[in-house]
Amino acid sequence: KLIAAALVGTMVLTMAGCTSKTAETTGSEASSDAAGGTLVMATNAEFPPYEYYEGENVVGIDADIAAAVADKLGMELKIEDMAFDSIIPAVTSGKADIGLAGMTVTEDRLENVDFSDTYAHATQVVIVKEDSDIASPDDLEGKKIGVQLGTTGDIYAGDIKDATVERYNKGSDAIQALKTGKIDCVIIDKQPAEAFVEKNDDLKILDDTFDAEEYAICIAKD
Ligand code: ARG
Repeated sequence: KLIAAALVGTMVLTMAGCTSKTAETTGSEASSDAAGGTLVMATNAEFPPYEYYEGENVVGIDADIAAAVADKLGMELKIEDMAFDSIIPAVTSGKADIGLAGMTVTEDRLENVDFSDTYAHATQVVIVKEDSDIASPDDLEGKKIGVQLGTTGDIYAGDIKDATVERYNKGSDAIQALKTGKIDCVIIDKQPAEAFVEKNDDLKILDDTFDAEEYAICIAKD
């Protein structure tokens, strides 16, 4: 009888332990293997129209895509906003299930993550002041170029001869620096460039662009 009572006691304690553990981990860890769980999306919400803030909420094309994926999987979507160069580490470490951030598929990134089918075509463009002497990407030699840290624009800028590359956490900070004359141009994806230039009449986008890119969702290799 004593042994039976002890066993029952142990079982109750064990199950109580389980319940509270589940409650604790929900929301703080990605739970991609459980239907009905939470789908954690890592992004950098500084990139209109793909992800940006509307009040306190992250909205945009990528947020809509993730919501549709979560809906299809019967999961709840949670969006985590972070620095762009933290997205792949978040996905590889399992802190996030998917990275969705207007992210270009590159050979380097493919070494660390897998990508979904691509969902958008993009190009990197050059933003300059209306009165700039820079007329095409060929004129960037020796210039001060602003980019968003860790993006493909950052990589292109690094290849330009004698250029100084200023790396910003936000595309909007690079735009601010351009307006105040701290830098000569900004290299950034075309759609965010259009969104930024629309709000600033003293800026324009050059017609010539860099090579075509493709956006996709990144996920952990396993
Ligand atoms: N397409 C570029 C890249 O993959 C820039 C993406 C920046 N995205 C963002 N959400 N800030 O490097």
